[in-house]
Amino acid sequence: MTYDAKPHHRGRQAGMQTQRPNGEAGPVARCEDVVVIGGCGRVGLPLGIALASRGRSVVLYDINQAATDVVNAGELPFAEEGAAAPLVEAVRAGRLRATTDPACVGRADTVIVVVGTPVDEHLNPDLGAVPTALERCMDHLYDGQLIILRSTVHPGVTALTERLLERHGLDIDVAFCPERIAEGHAMTELFELPQIVSARGQRALERATAFFAVLTDKIVPLELEEAELAKLYTNTWRYIKFATANQFWMMANDAGLDFTRVRQAITQDYPRAADLPMPGFAAGPCLFKDTMQLAAATNNTFALGHAAMLVNEGLPNFIVRQRWPDPMKPPKRPRPALSPLRPPDQRSETWLNPARSTVSSCSGATASSIRATAS
Ligand SMILES: NC(=O)c1ccc[n+]([C@@H]2O[C@H](COP(=O)([O-])OP(=O)(O)OC[C@H]3O[C@@H](n4cnc5c(N)ncnc54)[C@H](O)[C@@H]3O)[C@@H](O)[C@H]2O)c1
Repeated sequence: MTYDAKPHHRGRQAGMQTQRPNGEAGPVARCEDVVVIGGCGRVGLPLGIALASRGRSVVLYDINQAATDVVNAGELPFAEEGAAAPLVEAVRAGRLRATTDPACVGRADTVIVVVGTPVDEHLNPDLGAVPTALERCMDHLYDGQLIILRSTVHPGVTALTERLLERHGLDIDVAFCPERIAEGHAMTELFELPQIVSARGQRALERATAFFAVLTDKIVPLELEEAELAKLYTNTWRYIKFATANQFWMMANDAGLDFTRVRQAITQDYPRAADLPMPGFAAGPCLFKDTMQLAAATNNTFALGHAAMLVNEGLPNFIVRQRWPDPMKPPKRPRPALSPLRPPDQRSETWLNPARSTVSSCSGATASSIRATAS
């Protein structure tokens, strides 16, 4: 990690005054309303399109040249309902453009960071993802900006970012305002979901609140560290609910019973069980890794999170063993059918997940059998 980089010799200015990125005195030419770092990804691009659709001038900064080319051509690099037309319109109107040039962060008052925050092969989070992305642009940041962290972060990363900026002699307001959309639904959810807004100081809180008012009037203020936890709890809660359904489903199948009938019976006109999800592959780009971020944050004492991981990630193996108990021998006769899983949604976290790679790693015949079972 690179948090201890030496501060730049750039004089800190009081309050909202600005200083040119190159250290010269005088006002900065602020040509854009907002720059989004990591802007061509699943979160950054819909956010940029939504802001542009509300009249903001947006630059998407991304290290992926191919992704910036696609966006500048007015094309969506992934499926996102309702995003294609406003993207074309925003690019044509000059309200949205993508670039790999980090100097762009010096051209807007507000900078949003939405780079990926994965866990590694040992399930450890990368605490450096957000600070490292900012360090790449550090020479272009200036006093008086507002930096909004929107990536889902390990608790404490916002404080690390505040200290990093301080060490560079920068007087910048920092806010943490997590993204809570589901892929494929961003263009409605960005305008409908409440926005959690957090910052250490009143000024930063007010600026972040005013920024998101362009998308929604439902603002939920929190303390910074509360907000970091709130986002991790949001995803972990869903992951645990899926694990509960998946474990119940495996138990019923082991007993030769139809889980669908049992679930139907306990949820029918019984509101206290109505939130029991259908079983299915779980994790997606976020649920699994954010549960593991929370586990790491609690010194790996999060027994419930780890149990959920074992259940959800064990589901493909359970299905394979039901269909094909001995991997060395094909079954002599067809095995009894399993009760159905939640239909896979190709765009959501119920399907795009680490479990899918487990399925893919099975032999072709077994994988087809699993897909047939799952659909
Ligand atoms: N995908 C979702 O549905 C979702 C929902 C809520 C929150 N989140 C969170 O949002 C964050 C981003 O997720 P995502 O799905 O958009 O990831 P993504 O991988 O789709 O996008 C990240 C983008 O950042 C770019 N990037 C990486 N390092 C960079 C750097 N140093 N400077 C500039 N660009 C850089 C990548 O090229 C990529 O285009 C994560 O923290 C994730 O947990 C994701």
